[in-house]
Amino acid sequence: MEAGQGSEGILSQGMTQKREEIVELLKTAYFMELETVISYVTNSTNPDGVRAQEIKESLEEDVQEELGHAQRFAARIKELYGVVPGSLDFKAEQTYLQPPEEQTDVVHVIKGVIEAETGAIEHYEKIIEVTEEVDLVTQDMVIAILHDEQGHRRLFEGFLREYEAEGKA
Ligand SMILES: [Fe+2]
Ligand SMILES: [Fe+2]
Repeated sequence: MEAGQGSEGILSQGMTQKREEIVELLKTAYFMELETVISYVTNSTNPDGVRAQEIKESLEEDVQEELGHAQRFAARIKELYGVVPGSLDFKAEQTYLQPPEEQTDVVHVIKGVIEAETGAIEHYEKIIEVTEEVDLVTQDMVIAILHDEQGHRRLFEGFLREYEAEGKA
C-alpha cells in the first residue's frame, strides 16, 4: 500500500471510481424519494371515505419523512463530490401510485405504497452492499433510512391485511 492511501477512505483520489458508482446510486435514491413525496401528497389528498382517513393521515406524515430522506441523499451526494441533479433529469416511474378510477379505492393506494416502499428497500439494500467496507458513512445513513422504509411497508401491509380478511383485496 502506498503511503497515505486509505487515509481519506472513500474521499481519496484512488477511490474515485467507487465514489462515482455510489453517487449514481444516491442520485437514483434521491429521485425515488422525491417521486414518493409527490405520490404521497397526491394519495394523502384524493381518497374518499371513512376508512380512507387513516391511510391519508399516515401518508401525510410520511411525506415529511420521505422529504427528509431526499435531503439526506442530496447532502451525501455533495459530500462525495457529486452534484445533486436538477429536475430536468427526473423521470417518473411510479405507475402503481397514480390515482385510481374511484377515489374510494383505498386498496389500490395501499398496494401502491407497498410497491413503492419495496422498491426503495431493494435499492437501499443494494447501496448497503456496494458501500460495504468502502463507505461506512453512506452505509450507516442508508441503513437508518432502510429502517424507516421497512416500518412504512409493515404499516401498510397491516392495512392491507384488514382488507384481505374481508375479502376486499
Ligand atoms: Fe424514504
Ligand atoms: Fe417510505
